[in-house]
Amino acid sequence: MKPSIIAQEGISSSPPTTNKHLIRWVEKMAELCHPDSIHWVDGSQAEYDFLCERLVAVGTFTRLNEEQWPGCFYARSVPGDVARVEDRTFICSLSRDGAGPTNNWEDPFVMRRRLKQLFRGCMQGRTMYVLPFSMGPVGSPLSGIGVQLTDSPYVVAQMRIMARIGAPVFAEIDKDEKRVVPCVHSVGMPLKPGQPDVPWPCNETKYIVHFPETREIWSYGSGYGGNALLSKKCFALRIASNIARDEGWMAEHMLILGVESPEGEKTYVAAAFPSACGKTNFAMLLPPKAMEGWKVWTVGDDIAWIRPDAEGRLRAINPEAGFFGVAPGTSVNTNPAAMATLARNAIFTNVALTPDGGVWWEGMTDAPPAECQDWRGERWTPAIGRETGRTAAHPNGRFTAPAAQCPTMDPDWESPQGVPISAIIFGGRRSTTLPLVYQAFNWSSGVYIGATMGSETTAAAAGALGKVRRDPMAMLPFCGYHMGDYIRHWIKMQRELAMTPRVFHVNWFRRDVQGRFLWPGFSENMRVLRWIVERVHGRAQGRETPIGWVPRYEDIDWTGLDFPRSTFDELMAVERAAWRKEVISHEELFIDLHEHLPPELIYERELLICRL
Ligand code: OXD
Ligand code: MN
Repeated sequence: MKPSIIAQEGISSSPPTTNKHLIRWVEKMAELCHPDSIHWVDGSQAEYDFLCERLVAVGTFTRLNEEQWPGCFYARSVPGDVARVEDRTFICSLSRDGAGPTNNWEDPFVMRRRLKQLFRGCMQGRTMYVLPFSMGPVGSPLSGIGVQLTDSPYVVAQMRIMARIGAPVFAEIDKDEKRVVPCVHSVGMPLKPGQPDVPWPCNETKYIVHFPETREIWSYGSGYGGNALLSKKCFALRIASNIARDEGWMAEHMLILGVESPEGEKTYVAAAFPSACGKTNFAMLLPPKAMEGWKVWTVGDDIAWIRPDAEGRLRAINPEAGFFGVAPGTSVNTNPAAMATLARNAIFTNVALTPDGGVWWEGMTDAPPAECQDWRGERWTPAIGRETGRTAAHPNGRFTAPAAQCPTMDPDWESPQGVPISAIIFGGRRSTTLPLVYQAFNWSSGVYIGATMGSETTAAAAGALGKVRRDPMAMLPFCGYHMGDYIRHWIKMQRELAMTPRVFHVNWFRRDVQGRFLWPGFSENMRVLRWIVERVHGRAQGRETPIGWVPRYEDIDWTGLDFPRSTFDELMAVERAAWRKEVISHEELFIDLHEHLPPELIYERELLICRL
């Protein structure tokens, strides 16, 4: 059955593109999914307003108090659809080896058959939105284009914040018939004639599927962030990491920031931390007042596409246009720039709704509201929270906000050529062993550091302290091919470069024997960043240790901070016994990835063992 491509009120049905492949694909998918209508997304404000009204009418969105939260909406998911589903995420390369041991794999032919069954008729009673998006500024040689078909207007609204979408992207596709990454998404809840919709349609069965060879994405059953906004983790990391390997560039789970010195010198760095290690806070760092004249500029908070330029220097763009940040813990103290960014035109999901039509989450203010509706829609008071142990916001409650509203956005954040990257920083949440900061001896020892980086899953959870999950370059859930080949690709990148960025590792989370954090973190991280920048420019001193170069006490700018030398020594200690254990625990990675790892990594390990 052909869908009736009949325009509904405010909905355009005729293709605004001349790209025959694209039109044919949309027709084919419509034949499979049976939507009631098709809407080609133009990305305009009028369209956004129309969709938001529809979402309010069906109960997905609540409009927030216009005075305090202008242009903001609030949404609640169902409890079974609150996070990325790694166990339902598949890399369906032709061979199992192509996906490697760290990804779920399924035979692409088997998976296609399964998906066709799932998607047959899945959009009945719904509109299929054809949503073109550009990752990176439209027209930049570093950008990439995707088209997402989705039956979720909530996803369309979110994507308008997170990516450049609509008419300008169709125009770009039509120039030289550009290749696009096809992405199909359905919440997996068709509606029978007359069946009323629900605020958060989804399906218990979930599939987030990537076909790396054909560069395709299929997502079924979830309406939540990373599972449904296919531009983000699915395209910009899993599929893009495949494209990047083939074309000689890098798609990384990294923030990008620029450090400006009092003299106006700008140095850009990219940093990879696993999820929930404070990437957004670091990307928007506000230097301590005492470090007068130093500024940090934000380019991106989650993903970096990095490519060598004609001079052999790495240049990076942030492929996204918005922030999809974890709300709990975000406050005017921890991240004033994020709070300013999310103050208008934002969408909040799974946080708490206050009686005056505002939002709240744990950590936003010192005192919680006397009463609110929690992320499940139930009455919540501080007393109920204490009794039941329930938080008002889900720990993964999110804000979606336009990057352009961020007061610390770098003037060059949308530069089509990207920004030059002088340093790469790896980091994790480690309560022991790893010093506050150290610098790799060279590129391959830097790759070793990134490949073996790890993080404690949740340091607060009982029994979890000290349990380290290895997360190479913070890409474990996001690398779209064999992790060993990915590390090999990192080693190979050096050949493309006239000058490699300097590589560092930071750890804001080291604790003393009583379990107290040794480092204050947040703004004070600027002192570490300054040392990194000075090292990049060959101006700062350091001391050689078996693991790399570290700052001495006198190499750090302590202006305005009374930080005891003894605490610094504890924070910076490189204990040989602990490090021997650490290197032994790297073995896990070497066993898992063994045949695909580059030999340089084996040598680096041997060298490290010898130095220890
Ligand atoms: C994210 C993540 O949502 O890394 O950015 O999980
Ligand atoms: Mn992330």
